[in-house]
Amino acid sequence: MLRPMKITQAILPVAGLGTRFLPWTKVVPKELLPLGKEPIIAHIVDECMAAGIEDICFVISKGKEKIPEYFYDDPALEEELKRRGKHSLIEPLKRYSKLNFHTVYQRDQLGDGHAILQAKDWVQSDYVAVLFGDDLFTGAKPGIAQLKEVFEHHAKGEGAIVALENVPRENTNRYGIVGIRGEDPTDPRLKIVSEMVEKPDPKDAPSTLGIVGRYIIPRSTFDVLPTVQGSHGGEIRLIDALIAQLAAGMPMYGYACDGTRVDTGTPEGYARALKVFESIGN
Ligand code: UTP
Repeated sequence: MLRPMKITQAILPVAGLGTRFLPWTKVVPKELLPLGKEPIIAHIVDECMAAGIEDICFVISKGKEKIPEYFYDDPALEEELKRRGKHSLIEPLKRYSKLNFHTVYQRDQLGDGHAILQAKDWVQSDYVAVLFGDDLFTGAKPGIAQLKEVFEHHAKGEGAIVALENVPRENTNRYGIVGIRGEDPTDPRLKIVSEMVEKPDPKDAPSTLGIVGRYIIPRSTFDVLPTVQGSHGGEIRLIDALIAQLAAGMPMYGYACDGTRVDTGTPEGYARALKVFESIGN
């Protein structure tokens, strides 16, 4: 039996081809596009930091090495800035120095679950956070911090928790949608999930609560992921593993996160995200 414990590790799968951003993504990973003062991926790492998660594993594909590189110390650059008297520029460069970064490769793009599977041997704890780069949260408390807090407090034994957003019914076919069988009386944002359906037709959707880019999963999910290959043209998807675990009786929670979510996964969404971040001066 797994024990509830502190979540200290996060997997950031960023190995996707980014086809919706072609031809840009031939040379620039979409995760390095600027948003406010930082690239998109730095907002995700900041989100981990704000949640007290200091062990981060990037799952990358060939050509995306600049993503982890962005976070590494650069002593030669610091030395040069010192020599030029630009001392104020040095401190911000050290921002990530207390985090532990690790990188693994996903050689073939066989789905988000397959990407997560590449980090299996790196995971030390009973639970691990997963953050997908296309969804960003603005607001006082970032999405993963909200999940972590509620999960560490409520989960007993094995289980998983997903971030939820109430989406327009006509858009349910773009999300994993959950059915719920109750909510926590002390915190109605915390839902007990009874079913999960990937991209249902609006008329078939069990609710309008869509899963958005943040998860805390138990280590057992890594054993289930290889068994769900093939349901989507040979891809392994995280949601299919969670659906299988839910069917096998694993408790599943959802948390309707507070704050605004922006989707940077499409050029249109990215354009909107630029405006949101400009308006909050980030
Ligand atoms: P998406 O489904 O958005 O795919 O992946 P994508 O490649 O990023 O973008 P499009 O759809 O081709 O435009 C969701 C997340 O899962 C990662 C992506 O990098 C993204 O963070 N992913 C997806 C992988 O790491 N590997 C995969 O095989 C698929």
